[in-house]
Amino acid sequence: MDELLKDAETVPAVNQIELHPLLQQKETRAYCDERGIVIESYSPLMQAGEALEHPVIADLARKHDRTPAQVILRWHVQSGFIVIPKSVKPERIRENFALFDFELSEDEMRAIEGMDAGRRIGADPDTASFK
Ligand SMILES: NC(=O)c1ccc[n+]([C@@H]2O[C@H](COP(=O)([O-])OP(=O)(O)OC[C@H]3O[C@@H](n4cnc5c(N)ncnc54)[C@H](OP(=O)(O)O)[C@@H]3O)[C@@H](O)[C@H]2O)c1
Repeated sequence: MDELLKDAETVPAVNQIELHPLLQQKETRAYCDERGIVIESYSPLMQAGEALEHPVIADLARKHDRTPAQVILRWHVQSGFIVIPKSVKPERIRENFALFDFELSEDEMRAIEGMDAGRRIGADPDTASFK
């Protein structure tokens, strides 16, 4: 981003990065916040990986009578991220939209923030080859 911003005439509006409760990218988020760049989460459900089964998420899902996916997606929305989960199943697409009639408390948001483990499932931009 530093390299890009050195020469770019337009600051990017959005930066899409892998982001889910087990990879929270706080440094990149702060960098983008300072420059008014909105974050879009990719693989927001960790591609249905271990975040969905994490005990913190399971507890919150039980408490709010929601699915683990809805709790994670609500965390993205309340954090201010653009979030577009992928599903081929109509019932899951509906489930993944039904996020706007419940709210996570500050303590609950903090509990999810505490799950950060730097667990990346996609390519690491520091080492990936873009050829
Ligand atoms: N910029 C990039 O380099 C990059 C990289 C990766 C992804 N992305 C973008 O990020 C978006 C989504 O990422 P993604 O597809 O990698 O991962 P994701 O949205 O985190 O996870 C998709 C997986 O979760 C399952 N799923 C969806 N809703 C669910 C639910 N309610 N309960 C349980 N499982 C559920 C899906 O299965 P079913 O389909 O069987 O429901 C699929 O296996 C896409 O728009 C993609 O293009 C961008």
